[in-house]
Amino acid sequence: MMYSKKVMDHFMNPRNVGEIENASGVGEVGNAKCGDIMKIYLDIEDNIIKDVKFKTFGCGAAVATSSMATEMVKGKTIQEAMKITNKAVMEALDGLPPVKVHCSVLAEEALQAALWDYAQKNGIEIEGLKPPKSGDHHHIPENDE
Ligand code: FES
Repeated sequence: MMYSKKVMDHFMNPRNVGEIENASGVGEVGNAKCGDIMKIYLDIEDNIIKDVKFKTFGCGAAVATSSMATEMVKGKTIQEAMKITNKAVMEALDGLPPVKVHCSVLAEEALQAALWDYAQKNGIEIEGLKPPKSGDHHHIPENDE
């Protein structure tokens, strides 16, 4: 079997799908090669990630990794969330096939892009956080488009 039970579970029943109105930070990233895009919304209060939602126009592994990543950062501090790498997400999912590793990278990048947006909006610096790559990718259409 190519995908673990956990990957299948998060793909079939993704957690935290949706968007947050007036989010503290929003990050959208894409992978130009496969064309998949991911958007993460964070609601941050007193340095804690109170809520997190995501939207993915992407493959099953992208859905599963963003679902797991959102579960892992919810309720955490910004500093704890910074430590949640794509490797940690893959481990929590009991692994991904090698050709699908880039999908988990997308989840990590979207999370960091959302944290970057939050930092920019609030004029703060988050240790270890780098600006998101302004990738050449399509955008997720807004509801009213
Ligand atoms: Fe590109 Fe999965 S195939 S994100």
